[in-house]
Order: sequence, then C-alpha cells, then structure tokens
Amino acid sequence: MTIVLTGGCGFIGSHQAVALLEAGHDVVLVDDLSNARESVVDRIAEIAGRRPEFHATDVRDTEALTKVLAASGCDSIIHFAGLKHVSESMERAIDYLDVNLAGLTSVLKAADTTGVRRLVFSSSGSIYGPAERVPIPETAPVNPTNPYSRSKALCEQVLAQVCAVDPSWSVMSLRYFNPAGAHPSGLIGEDPTHLISNLVPVIMETVNGAFDSVPIFGTDFDTDDGTAVRDYIHVMDVVEAHAAALDVVKTTTGFEALNIGRGEGVSVRQLITAAGDVLDRPIPTVEHPRRTGDVAALAADTTRSKKRLGIHDYRGVDTIFRDAWRFRAGRTT
Ligand SMILES: NC(=O)c1ccc[n+]([C@@H]2O[C@H](COP(=O)([O-])OP(=O)(O)OC[C@H]3O[C@@H](n4cnc5c(N)ncnc54)[C@H](O)[C@@H]3O)[C@@H](O)[C@H]2O)c1
Repeated sequence: MTIVLTGGCGFIGSHQAVALLEAGHDVVLVDDLSNARESVVDRIAEIAGRRPEFHATDVRDTEALTKVLAASGCDSIIHFAGLKHVSESMERAIDYLDVNLAGLTSVLKAADTTGVRRLVFSSSGSIYGPAERVPIPETAPVNPTNPYSRSKALCEQVLAQVCAVDPSWSVMSLRYFNPAGAHPSGLIGEDPTHLISNLVPVIMETVNGAFDSVPIFGTDFDTDDGTAVRDYIHVMDVVEAHAAALDVVKTTTGFEALNIGRGEGVSVRQLITAAGDVLDRPIPTVEHPRRTGDVAALAADTTRSKKRLGIHDYRGVDTIFRDAWRFRAGRTT
C-alpha cells in the first residue's frame, strides 16, 4: 500500500513513517517544514532501511498536492499537518483556522480529484473542553474552549459532512490526548523548530540545561494537587493506533471518531516527579497563573478505541521519559 502522510516530517508523522515503511508500505511525506527539519527524512531512512519520498509542500497548495497524490497512486492519507498549540492559538486564531481548516479542505479537494477516499485525521482530545466526567467517552459533548480545539472540532464536522453526502468516503478521526516520548532508537523524537511548549519536551530542555525551569501554568485547578491533569500516551502507541485505523478504513465507509490516550490522568506535578525519578535528578519548576483556554482535566475513556483498533496495552510514563531522554541526550543542539 502507498500512504501519503501530510505533516510527515513532524513529531508523530516521522514515527508513523518509520512504522509504515517497516511494515512494507510505501510512504510519501508532504510537509512545508514550518515545524520540522528536512534531516528527519535521513533519520527515518536510517531506522527503516528505506527512504520515504518527500515533498516540501504546503497542504493548502491544492494544485501541488493534487500532483503529489496523483503521482503517488496512494490508497490512503493520514492528515497530520497542522498547527497544534492551544496557547499560541489564542494569539493566532486566524492562522490556526486557516492552516487547520483550509489545510483540510485542500487535502479533501486533492483527494477527491485523484480518487482517494480513505483518510485518517489527527484530531485532539482538547475538543471536549471542560468535560462533565473524566475519563471522557467519544459520546461526550464537543465543547472547544480555544481556537486550536475549535479548528479541530470544525474539521471533524467537515469530515462527517463529506462522509454523509458521499458514502464512498471512509474517514477515521483520532482524538489524541497527549502524545509524548520518542522512537526507542533515539534517532527521532519530538523536535519542534517553531515553538517548544508541550510539557515533555519542555522537561527535556530543562534537564538538558537549555531552559532554567519547567513552568507550571495553574496551581488552583479543581484537581487533587491543583495542577492540570492530562493523559500522556507514548508516540509509538499512537503510531500503532494509526496502523490499525488504516486497516479499519479499508473495510468500512463513513465517519468515525475514536479517543487515543492511555486512559489515565496524570497531573503536571506528578509528571514532573515521574521524570525526576526516571532520570534520577531534581527538575526545577516555577509556578505561573493558568493560561487562558486550558481546562482542569482531560483523560480518554479508551473502551471503544481499544475494541475497534484491537489495542491491548500501552507503554507507561517511565518508557515515555526514557525514550524522550535518549533522543534529547543524543541531539547536539
Ligand atoms: N502532539 C500533540 O500533543 C497533539 C495532540 C493532539 C493532536 N495533535 C495533532 O496531531 C498532528 C501532528 O502533531 P505533531 O505533534 O506531530 O505536530 P508537529 O508540529 O510536530 O507536526 C506537524 C507537521 O506539519 C507540518 N505542517 C504544518 N503546517 C503545514 C502546512 N500548511 N502544510 C504542510 N505541512 C505543514 C509541520 O512542519 C510539522 O512537520 C497535528 O495536526 C496536531 O494538531 C497533536
């Protein structure tokens, strides 16, 4: 099978590329390198023993994307490309809607023109907003509290609508909670060029001495220790979920959304403590007020996704830190 990965040079996309190449598929990466380095293509090739095709293309350039899809003869697309920071989206709402929503409609147009009807979409657990109960099942109301989450919720509506009017489409939207960690080789990991704001890379930069301390945004949330609770899942578990999702979209039609998390809420303080324990060193922190748009607790109810995707087990937070550190310690910058 040939699979096109938009945003394929990014954190999750690069790990997905390795897994798909190792499984014997052909992989085409489409990435504008706004938050990734081209050198990741060499790293992917080094791990997988095969080189993916790469196009430095903005997904909103529908004409260019259509050419790539047509030449690839691909069966399915995984649409990872997008902007992803809740806090940044409060300052750049229009950019977030443009890249995430116009990016998706461009992918849909190019797919439509070239006859591709199978798509796996990167959604986010943040679309649930302040949920009534945690862990959150897929049936919970979608209630985004910031432009990033709103853009993902709108994308899901667009995808559900496309599937409703044209039953030849098969779309699975995966609502990731907090992907983290790195490939066990230490050769690829979370390596943003634009903004380091996800908690695990911030902890890594602090351990490495590039940052003075880990900021804790909000200590007065309605949680056990007052800090925000999130559901951290190893990137390799996220990648395995996509591989299963590609199998599902081959045999079904219509739109379906599934949670991708470990189903276990971990507070910011608990996560920092776990990192200190695994890496055997103290991690300095500094407390700040809450950020606008952040909610107290997000964790996935994984009952449905485990069943649909045949997932049995997840890697733990210890493995997330060991793998993330192997990658960070091996980098020279
Ligand atoms: N990592 C997370 O915590 C998380 C959580 C929930 C959802 N997601 C979603 O998963 C997807 C992948 O996330 P990630 O962590 O790998 O992020 P990432 O930033 O590492 O990867 C996204 C990639 O898309 C590329 N890109 C951005 N805009 C583009 C455009 N217009 N055209 C082509 N390429 C473009 C970037 O260069 C980057 O390589 C995103 O859509 C994100 O919103 C991520």
